[in-house]
Amino acid sequence: MEQYAIKGGNPLVGEVEIGGAKNAALGVLAAAIMTDDTVIVDNLPDVRDINVLMNAMESIGVVINRTDRHTVKINGSMIHGFVIEDEFIKKIRASYYLLGALLGKYKHGEVALPGGCNIGSRKIDLHIKGFKALGAEVKIEHGLIIAKAEKLKGAHIYLDTVSVGATINIMLAAVLAEGKTVIENAAKEPHVVDVANFLNSMGANIKGAGTDVVRITGVPRLHATEYSIIPDQIEAGTFMLAAAITKGDVTVKNVIPKHLESTSAKLIEMGCQIEESDDAVRVVASRRLESTQVKTLPYPGFPTDMQPQISVALALAQGTSIVTESIFDNRFKYVDELAKMGSDIKVEGNTAIIAGVKHFTSANLTAPDLRAGAALVLACLTAEGFSTVEDIKYIERGYEDFHIKLQGLGAQIDKVESDKDLQKFKFKVG
Ligand code: EPZ
Repeated sequence: MEQYAIKGGNPLVGEVEIGGAKNAALGVLAAAIMTDDTVIVDNLPDVRDINVLMNAMESIGVVINRTDRHTVKINGSMIHGFVIEDEFIKKIRASYYLLGALLGKYKHGEVALPGGCNIGSRKIDLHIKGFKALGAEVKIEHGLIIAKAEKLKGAHIYLDTVSVGATINIMLAAVLAEGKTVIENAAKEPHVVDVANFLNSMGANIKGAGTDVVRITGVPRLHATEYSIIPDQIEAGTFMLAAAITKGDVTVKNVIPKHLESTSAKLIEMGCQIEESDDAVRVVASRRLESTQVKTLPYPGFPTDMQPQISVALALAQGTSIVTESIFDNRFKYVDELAKMGSDIKVEGNTAIIAGVKHFTSANLTAPDLRAGAALVLACLTAEGFSTVEDIKYIERGYEDFHIKLQGLGAQIDKVESDKDLQKFKFKVG
């Protein structure tokens, strides 16, 4: 089984190029099937979640031509089915964006009910509430969510909880509906804005994306476009934390610094120096980090997708920190793994009380999910000696060439498949 082999102890130094945002790309790809014209999408990250979504799209007749590693041509004129099977939804929850896209375009979509994911209960009630408000009949049968409508009509929808997925899915269903839709208490994440910008470039009429209130005026059809996905704020944030955790000096390039403000602010509180330019952020950590308080919140608050990475940094900081996870109810699963390295973290409900230790010891760890997996890799990079991280399939869901980018910053890390490979790695790095 593939795992990362890591020899820790080196500060990470240098520059790293950030790819396109996975969570924006998932919405954009689903939206691309809503026209019969050919759409070109660029700056697509080559990660598993994206590839699974494209397989799901191909399973219903979408024609996808990958012109290079990060560019695809998509044509949705030959869609012959409206059912997204279990196999895809089990692998990625975001296949449910195809429900909004199919419902919007064909007034009929069916996707398998997303199962519980390993970061906590992840409901879909707000997506369904939105579709119903637009006039769809939505029922759950044989494990499928079936959404059908004679026609969709704009509506006023209030989201009880700020939800990225529901905001994007309702936007998808509403762009071709008759009349005006208003989504109140909408998510403001950069990827919501990116999907809206993409739809607008196809002829949709969406205003207010990035604020609490998104207003959509239905249009009769969407057309061809060429679009480049925004940079991935979470990949960027992960490398910023890599610099902080290893006491390094890393410049993350091809980013939108505004999207990283909550992470930059916390790093400054923790004693790092941050330098921003137009499309890059440099993080320098020259001394032991200081403790702080973190609470995850919808954008522009501190992202839940950065919670494990900052917690690893705080586990090495001077003093005691409190981290409150307010979005998902099971996002501290890495804590038991980190304990194997000598960390001192107590979890009580949605709060982690982190007493900083001076250093971690090497250990063999298992990635419990995508972001926690990345955070554990960063932990291993600080520990003297050899560590391994198993179940890296989770990390590969959302990070393109993670170990190669880390190698570029001086990390001693490799992907190994067997004990023999592991021995070779140990021999190579000494
Ligand atoms: C998106 O998930 C991201 N995924 C997640 O990224 C991210 O952690 C999350 O937003 C929060 O930023 C994608 O974009 C594909 P939500 P999503 O709906 O849309 C509750 C990663 O690591 N809720 O904003 O599923 C829900 O239980 C992943 O890249 C309802 O109550 O998240 C949660 O508490 C993991 N009813 C809160 O809203 C609903 O119908 C926010 O969830 C929907 C959600």
